[in-house]
Amino acid sequence: MSAETTIPAGADLLEEIERLRKERNAVILAHYYQKPELQDLADFVGDSLELSRKAAETDAEVIAFCGVKFMADTAKILSPEKIVVLPDLDAGCSLEDSCPPEKFKAFREAHPDHIALTYINCSTEVKALSDIIVTSSSAETILQQIPKDQPIIFGPDRHLGGYLSRKFNREMLLWPGVCIVHEAFSETELLKLKAQHPDAPIAAHPECPPTILDHADHVGSTSSILNFAKSFPGDTLIVATEPHIIHQMEKALPDKTFIGAPGADGNCNCNICPYMALNTMEKLYACLRDLEPRIEIEEGLRLKAKASLDRMLEMAGSTVGKGDLGNRS
Ligand code: 13P
Ligand code: SF4
Repeated sequence: MSAETTIPAGADLLEEIERLRKERNAVILAHYYQKPELQDLADFVGDSLELSRKAAETDAEVIAFCGVKFMADTAKILSPEKIVVLPDLDAGCSLEDSCPPEKFKAFREAHPDHIALTYINCSTEVKALSDIIVTSSSAETILQQIPKDQPIIFGPDRHLGGYLSRKFNREMLLWPGVCIVHEAFSETELLKLKAQHPDAPIAAHPECPPTILDHADHVGSTSSILNFAKSFPGDTLIVATEPHIIHQMEKALPDKTFIGAPGADGNCNCNICPYMALNTMEKLYACLRDLEPRIEIEEGLRLKAKASLDRMLEMAGSTVGKGDLGNRS
């Protein structure tokens, strides 16, 4: 869902975006899974935690969020006085879709002694039903602060939950959601690729299934994978996350080789996030021009969701990823 995206005859799209950014006093935030041209014009590029922090602290009047809806919702929850626009309102997330609020509520009610530790990839309603939000870069620090005898529900990503559970030897009740992008990687094809590049380490996002994570030399958030790319001693890295992140790696390390992990046919585009891909330069231009599609959240719901996000921001401490390759700030 997006507005008419045509720019005036003879106008230059980049110049128009630049003009509107200034006129609107707007900050453009982009996730690492966005198209390279959107990453390159953003004021700040980051992982989910870094982007949440930027959204909370910016003094811009408008936040144009090049990411998916739960990220723009988070920006609005943390900065209600700002106008938050998303280039395409249909940019959702399979994890959010997997966790309808009424089912999550019933699940919580069935386990009243459990707290809900919830991945940020969920709706505002599910955030409001949760105790603490985590991102992939803050989850480990936060989990370690929860008393060992406190039972936990973790949702909606069963792979991130399973990874944390194995790493910290901690049982958690897992919601059965998955990211369709990370689920698409193939263990068989990954092993074939590894056989061709035996010295190349594998860096994987914890949204991958255990069949992929078992082969990884490094597991972490997008910013943590970027840090690993900057520090590993070799010259080739296999990257098991959404492949648009490779843009930042190639910019920072032009002499190294980064290979996206394959899907089931060995060479598919199935691990490009179809939701992130909905955002385009033209739609960014249109949303800055029209200040639509705009994120609106009812105040009572916002305050409930903010409580669980604030807990994350407090408990995450300085766990901000060092993958800040932001362009301007
Ligand atoms: P991070 O950037 O926080 O690692 O999250 C990845 C993701 O799936 C965003 O949708
Ligand atoms: Fe959701 Fe996966 Fe896309 Fe991230 S990559 S927005 S988790 S579908």
